[in-house]
Amino acid sequence: MADHASLAGKRVLLVIAGGIAAYKSLELIRRLRERGVTVRAVLTEAGARFVTPLSVQALTEDTVYRDLWSLTDESEMGHIRLSREADLLVVAPATANLLARMAAGMADDLAATVLLATDKPVLVAPAMNVRMWQHAATQANMALLESRGVLRVGPNEGVMACNEYGPGRMAEPMEIVDAIAGFFAQASHRPLAGRRAIVTSGPTHEPIDPVRYIANRSSGKQGHAIAAALATLGAEVTLVSGPTRLPDPAGCRVTHIETAREMLAACEAALPADIAVCAAAVADWRVDGASDRKLKKDGGGPPALALTENPDILATLSRPGDRRPALVVGFAAETGDVLAYATAKRARKGCDWIVANDVSPGTGTFGGSDNTVHLIRADGVESWPTMAKDAVASRLAQAVAEHFTETLKAK
Ligand code: C5P
Repeated sequence: MADHASLAGKRVLLVIAGGIAAYKSLELIRRLRERGVTVRAVLTEAGARFVTPLSVQALTEDTVYRDLWSLTDESEMGHIRLSREADLLVVAPATANLLARMAAGMADDLAATVLLATDKPVLVAPAMNVRMWQHAATQANMALLESRGVLRVGPNEGVMACNEYGPGRMAEPMEIVDAIAGFFAQASHRPLAGRRAIVTSGPTHEPIDPVRYIANRSSGKQGHAIAAALATLGAEVTLVSGPTRLPDPAGCRVTHIETAREMLAACEAALPADIAVCAAAVADWRVDGASDRKLKKDGGGPPALALTENPDILATLSRPGDRRPALVVGFAAETGDVLAYATAKRARKGCDWIVANDVSPGTGTFGGSDNTVHLIRADGVESWPTMAKDAVASRLAQAVAEHFTETLKAK
């Protein structure tokens, strides 16, 4: 069981939506209150069909908030105040309907309005029939909400109230308590608070003419995950991103650019910074004198494209000087002799660390969710097991945080 010390004195706003698992939310209220958490509850109309407002009121020892239009509640406790006076919003059970309304940004009842109006972290505990959970619509809604920073616990797999088997059961009350405690423990662990970070991510597009460009296959997944992981540890992050399909990660300032030269300018504008992580796959060359009109097939054969070298952003940021970030991290995507090439690259670019990976066809690294990397520092190489790009990002952010803690100790 997780350490629950972080829970005492915290304020949770619990949204109970209409699912059979709502009965477990009564138990959740008790377990939270035992640990010193103040729980205030919002009950949806459907939720009130599964548990009575009286039970919720008795367990929270507070009014149960149900009506967006109630004049008394609005004057005494408007939806803005409900979220302002909470440290965390927990939605349990989070039904398919409420997840869909959250994803769409609807505000058609008190629960949805509070969830739209809040700037507080939100944890959802989905609960629904297995096919509703597995439906592409629910999966897309959940993925969208998670990309916006919504946290999730469960659902678990097992026999459901409807006698079907599969994922969809709401996490047990104590699992939700553990997730809430984990959130508060992590939220207070912000070792990079006060540090500024620049992260580059994605490909660059180098125009040939107004409609054509040279690009590469970078998805931006690894760079975006690193920006989010540094922000989670408290850093003030500017993410400079080339064109990707990814949503902007929560908690970061994002500058969208297209070309390598725009990426360099955006990085320089974000200085000074303590940390720079260059995870972008910057095009090495651009078309010299790109045409400002669409090139035509005029029967004279294909145009000759003259290429010229792009600025090296990593090498530029690594250059010694007042504005050099204290820690500069580069990436080396190689297709053989990974460690030898990456070690040489670290010296050539002048950066402090290199994260090296094998991107040979078949490794699935480009565009895939997993990555197998080696962290090369002045004092040697650490090889990490294959893990999700999010996990690589968390581990790298942790290593960055440890680096600054050690540097401070050494002073
Ligand atoms: O030279 P190469 O592209 O192999 O180096 C990869 C590393 O250098 C990555 O960290 C990449 O983000 C960075 N880079 C850069 N600007 C360039 C080329 C590469 O920042 N023009």
